[in-house]
Amino acid sequence: MSHIRLQNVSKVFDATPEQAQTALSMMADGMSSRDVREQTGFSVGLYDINLAIEKGELHCIMGLSGSGKSTLVRHINRLIDPSTGKIWVDRVEDDFHGHESAINVLELGDAELQTFRQNNVSMVFQHFGLVPHMTIVQNVAYGLRVRKMPKAKRHEIARHWLNEVGLHGVETSYPDELSSGMQQRVGLARALAVDTPIILMDEAFSALDPLIRSELQDQLLNLQAKLNKTIVFITHDIDEAVKLGSHITILNGGRLVQTGTPQDLQNNPADDYVARFMVANSA
Ligand SMILES: Nc1ncnc2c1ncn2[C@@H]1O[C@H](COP(=O)(O)OP(=O)(O)OP(=O)(O)O)[C@@H](O)[C@H]1O
Ligand SMILES: [Mg+2]
Repeated sequence: MSHIRLQNVSKVFDATPEQAQTALSMMADGMSSRDVREQTGFSVGLYDINLAIEKGELHCIMGLSGSGKSTLVRHINRLIDPSTGKIWVDRVEDDFHGHESAINVLELGDAELQTFRQNNVSMVFQHFGLVPHMTIVQNVAYGLRVRKMPKAKRHEIARHWLNEVGLHGVETSYPDELSSGMQQRVGLARALAVDTPIILMDEAFSALDPLIRSELQDQLLNLQAKLNKTIVFITHDIDEAVKLGSHITILNGGRLVQTGTPQDLQNNPADDYVARFMVANSA
C-alpha cells in the first residue's frame, strides 16, 4: 500500500461539473491547458494525474511555473478538492483499528478532515508562515498546543526540534529578529514537532540565498536519514530535485510527464521537456 495515492485526479478551477467535463475532454483530445484556457476561459490545474508515493520517499515535484505543482500537493490534505479522481492516504498506525488501511481523503467530513490534517500532514511554506507575535518556541509548539498538550511538555518537544534543526539560544526571540534561513529552520522544526508521517514543502527553500539554501538542503537530508518521513517537496529547480529527491515527478501544463528516481529520469527521459531539465542538471 502506497503512503499517498492519486488516481485519475483532474482539477478545473471555478467550473461546474459540466464545464469541467468539457475542459477535460479537450485535454483528453490532446489540447494544452493554455489552449483550453484560451478557448473556454477555464484553468486546468491538473489533468489525469496518477501518482503513488511510498512511505519514506523524499519525493520532489518539479516543473515550470504554472505546471500544477502547488495544485497537486494541495490535493493531498484537501486544501483543494479535485474535479474528478480519488486521493488515498495510508492510515497512521495509531488510527488503525483493523478496518480499511487507507483513508479516502475525499470522503472525510469537516471534523474528520481536521483530525486527518493534524495527525497526518504538516506543511512548510515558502515564506515561513511564522506567527509574528509569538516567540520562536511558541511558534514551534503551536501545533502541540492545538492538540492541548501541556505547556511544559510541548515546550520541551519544541526545544528538542529547534536543536535538531541547528538552532540554539533563540527560543525567546521573535521571528523578525531571525534571518530568513533561521526562520525557515523554525518552519521545519514546527513541522517536525507535530510528528506527522507526511510533510509537504512548497518551494520551502526557494526564497533563501544559495549558500543558506544549500545548508538547509543538507539539514533536510540529514534529518530524513534519521526520521524516514514521507516528504513531498515542490521545487522548480532541477539541481535541488536531484540533490534531495529519492524520487522525482515532472509536471508540464498540468500533466504528469514522468515519475521515477533521478537515475530513471537521467537515463530514460520520457520526452524532450524532461531531457532538457536533466541536461541542465548535468551541465
Ligand atoms: N485558485 C486558482 N484559480 C484559478 N486558477 C488557478 C488557481 N490556482 C492555480 N491556478 C492555475 O492552475 C495552474 C497551475 O497552477 P499552480 O499554482 O499549481 O502551478 P505551480 O506549478 O505551483 O506554479 P509556481 O511555480 O508558479 O508556483 C496555473 O495555470 C494557475 O494559473
Ligand atoms: Mg506553486
